[in-house]
Amino acid sequence: MEPTRGITLHNFILQNQRKQPGATGEFSALLIQISLAARVISRELSRAGLIEEALGFTGDINVQGEEVRKMDEYANETFIRAFRDTGLICVLVSEELEGPEHLIQACPVGGYSLLIDPLDGSSNLDCDVTVGSSFAVLRQQHAISPEASLLQPGVQQVAAGYILYGPSTMMVYSTGDEVNGFTLDAGIGEFLLSHPHIRIPEKGKYYSVNEANYQNWSPQIQAYVDHIKSAKGYSGRYVGSLVADIHRTLLHGGVFLYPGTAKNPEGKLRLLYEANPLAYILEKAGGKATTGTERILDIVPTQLHQRVPVIMGSPQEVSLAEQYIAGPALV
Ligand code: AHG
Ligand code: MN
Ligand code: MN
Repeated sequence: MEPTRGITLHNFILQNQRKQPGATGEFSALLIQISLAARVISRELSRAGLIEEALGFTGDINVQGEEVRKMDEYANETFIRAFRDTGLICVLVSEELEGPEHLIQACPVGGYSLLIDPLDGSSNLDCDVTVGSSFAVLRQQHAISPEASLLQPGVQQVAAGYILYGPSTMMVYSTGDEVNGFTLDAGIGEFLLSHPHIRIPEKGKYYSVNEANYQNWSPQIQAYVDHIKSAKGYSGRYVGSLVADIHRTLLHGGVFLYPGTAKNPEGKLRLLYEANPLAYILEKAGGKATTGTERILDIVPTQLHQRVPVIMGSPQEVSLAEQYIAGPALV
């Protein structure tokens, strides 16, 4: 049955819980706590420009070697606070934390782990451009340690999604079947279903890539982007906030790329909490996500913060990119 537009995220989650015989309610509570973190971060972002220095840097460098902004830290702490002492999450992995944060010692098999980019696109913050958060949920597997259990391929995610802090705040997620989008009504502090059963167009008109890196791409990637630019009907769009670029790609179709370069063959984006959750959403909506040679969701990770080249979006554009990459160098 088609879910009712306008129903609250909370009700939507509870309705879905009733369809799962034997559900304990823990998974529902986990999703509701993610939405709480989203609402808190959204509120803070909306007024951060009014607070002196709130959009500036902490002075720290994170495990990625990037300068940490105060809002990166705030968003990270907000997610931790939303889950501390709830018993809902065994382990939290974050872009802003070097190692896993154990919220439950002695994690039970089947317990949940949460992997997050708490604030994505934070270099866009000081000019009031859309940013986001992305998240993936995994289950602790039998007979292996919580750490090893974090290194599962994305295909085993039990839920994933993102939050977009733009003109409105949206939460888009999937628990394995369809993808649904909810828009925050700040007046009542609730996310309401606004985009039921999102499907990505088979083909789109936007391509999205940071072309400043063109000279450092492989000849195959250069040839593919040259092809897109010379083909009829394409227009370029690049926000520089992954969540925003993927959200547009999801709704309008087209392709997003962050390829490797000669200096950084694995590109920039992190597998566990950026590429995997967004690949999951795109695939569940009918799209494709690849490194160029391998489906992103099939990659067996070896490190928490590993990076991966990314090409994702509408099936037609991504399949063509794969053909260019498989073929002989064209220059
Ligand atoms: P983050 O702010 O979480 O470190 O992520 C930044 C990422 C991503 O949002 C975006 O797609 C990419 O950086 C943009 O990188 P370039 O500036 O190299 O294009
Ligand atoms: Mn990011
Ligand atoms: Mn980030």
